Amino acid sequence: MPPRLLIDPAPAPRRRAVRGVFRDGDGGLSAANPGAFDAALLREARADGFFGKIGETHLVSVQGVKTLLVGLGARKEADGHTLRLFGAAAYRRIAATTWPEVRISPPDGVLPTAEAVRAVAEGVGLAAYRHDAFKSKPADAPAIREIRFDAPPREAKAAGERLALARLFTEAVDFARDLINEPPSRKTPSVLGRRARALAGPRVRVTVHEKPALLKMGAGGLLGVNRGSAHPPVMVHFRYAPAGRPRRRLAFVGKGITFDSGGLSLKPADGMMTMKYDMAGAATVFGLFTVLPRLAPDVEVHGIAPITENMPGPDAYKPGDVVTALNGKTIEVLNTDAEGRVVLADALAYAARLGPDEILDVATLTGAATVALGKNVLAVMSNTPALMDRLGAAARDAGEKTWPLPLEPSYRDHIKSKVADLKNIGNPGEAGTIIGGLFLEEFVDGRPWLHVDMAGVGWNANGSPLSPPGATGAVVRTFLNHILRADGRNRP
Ligand code: BES
Ligand code: ZN
Ligand code: ZN
Repeated sequence: MPPRLLIDPAPAPRRRAVRGVFRDGDGGLSAANPGAFDAALLREARADGFFGKIGETHLVSVQGVKTLLVGLGARKEADGHTLRLFGAAAYRRIAATTWPEVRISPPDGVLPTAEAVRAVAEGVGLAAYRHDAFKSKPADAPAIREIRFDAPPREAKAAGERLALARLFTEAVDFARDLINEPPSRKTPSVLGRRARALAGPRVRVTVHEKPALLKMGAGGLLGVNRGSAHPPVMVHFRYAPAGRPRRRLAFVGKGITFDSGGLSLKPADGMMTMKYDMAGAATVFGLFTVLPRLAPDVEVHGIAPITENMPGPDAYKPGDVVTALNGKTIEVLNTDAEGRVVLADALAYAARLGPDEILDVATLTGAATVALGKNVLAVMSNTPALMDRLGAAARDAGEKTWPLPLEPSYRDHIKSKVADLKNIGNPGEAGTIIGGLFLEEFVDGRPWLHVDMAGVGWNANGSPLSPPGATGAVVRTFLNHILRADGRNRP
């Protein structure tokens, strides 16, 4: 069980505390809360080798209170993300103690108190995720049961609201992480269809299109990719409707390949070890709908996830095959491992038919995204600069990094086919991530659209400050921020 996170406006005498410490220009240290420590204590911590670097921790005793010092780096560089990292580092260190409860003082002077509580709590929540369902003897759970955040009484209400927001955000991320970490044979399309239906409620309608419906609507891309698999595909359609008139209508589309073997263009063994995470885009979309009714934005939100395995079974689609997508465009499949764009072709065309104001898709689309930007930066492409700017701002608020790639028009030739409208690969070794984006653009019917390639960022075998090893749950918080901004209240 993760610890309970609470606001405490009337601190009882404390026994265990967490305090931030900035590192000064001259190499000294300063407390992140006025009057927290005397100079001698900080000099001693420094002499003991504590530098106040971001994420660094140091245990001291202050007048009988066990105090965990957590480094914040330089004060002038500190921002919301520094506070997230502070929360995460604090949690990790606390989890290694026998402490049942602790009080965290959000650092002063970086953000207003309530916002600071939100950021620190989000860091705590993201770091507290565990995936040990398949250990017959799970490692001992951390002793920590309760984490309280200091907030002065007049700010307690606002801080409580922002804490609730942090809890919702981490809940959505953890839902996505759980789905992504699930072993591939246990999350077949029908299983994910059931998980989707379970998210239906008063404000969320869920339709799971099964194979007969897909045949009828002409989803030839999804059906084509599915042919090598023993498990039929599904296309999930979530729809969140606000209580009042929606200010905008957004559609989110997520790639849902529950396992990508490459199909007949089979991947090498090393290349498929982590390919259960090829449904991370779909998991992102699922995550949004777990919390949207409670976030209650004034916008209509659609979520579409085309879900199938990509396998080389006896009837698998073959290099040279031609499939017809939902919008009637024909695709010559020259590499069955470029399957994400083929299933997304249908899903984007489906989204475009709903007539939304904008379409955002997220996919583990290309290995080339990792080559270009590595594991910490999302590749983003869009046909609408203003949408790109808004998404970039939403990502910054979430502490996620994005970088734009151009939808270079002169490369459109690369995906022209001699036999069909398009082919599913470009020139070998040339701009693979951009080619993926250009291909998807063909299916959005000219609507404002943005594509996030999360192939590099969705999985981290070693873990990162905010994520244990495995699924990172990336993009969920960025999309939630984007939705909250779209409702006009412009809440970060
Ligand atoms: N799911 C992969 C992309 C991927 C690779 C995601 C590594 C995460 C880590 C995608 O379906 C794929 O195989 N793409 C091919 C496209 C190529 C054949 C044009 C790729 O990137 O090699
Ligand atoms: Zn593939
Ligand atoms: Zn794939």
